[in-house]
Amino acid sequence: MRYIRAMISLTVNGKPHNVDVTSDMPLLWVIRDVIGLTGTKFGCGIGQCGACTVHLDGTPIRSCSTPVSLAAGKKVTTIEGLSPTASHALQHAWVAEQVPQCGYCQSGQLMSAAALLARIARPTDADIDRAMNGNICRCGTYQRIRRAIHRAARA
Ligand code: FES
Ligand code: FES
Repeated sequence: MRYIRAMISLTVNGKPHNVDVTSDMPLLWVIRDVIGLTGTKFGCGIGQCGACTVHLDGTPIRSCSTPVSLAAGKKVTTIEGLSPTASHALQHAWVAEQVPQCGYCQSGQLMSAAALLARIARPTDADIDRAMNGNICRCGTYQRIRRAIHRAARA
């Protein structure tokens, strides 16, 4: 396969970036290794676990399996951009409900939850289960995640 190197412009957490990479490089690698934002995690690398979830123009995507070329000219939001002061209602709720255990999956969980609340202000349990379905937690924090989403929705 032939890889094409390209200068790609994208906005990450409100800041413009021009990255000189191969156009098929996964967005996750660009975010972590080129731009240096390491809050977004590598889990499976094949779009199955949700650890790498970021928003692309407001929609949650798996950055491990999204080529950076698809983000050209678009707005990417990572966990670092969810709130500049870590004061998003979900972040408060996550602390209040003591959601994380090892923490590895949690930035992806938060990004999926944030996209859900942007779409549905008061989600039901079924809404939450549907939206969070692709985010795997090996520590089994699912019940606390659900409580934290409800708490944030009430806030
Ligand atoms: S690392 Fe992207 S879905 Fe698992
Ligand atoms: S908190 Fe450990 S994998 Fe989710």
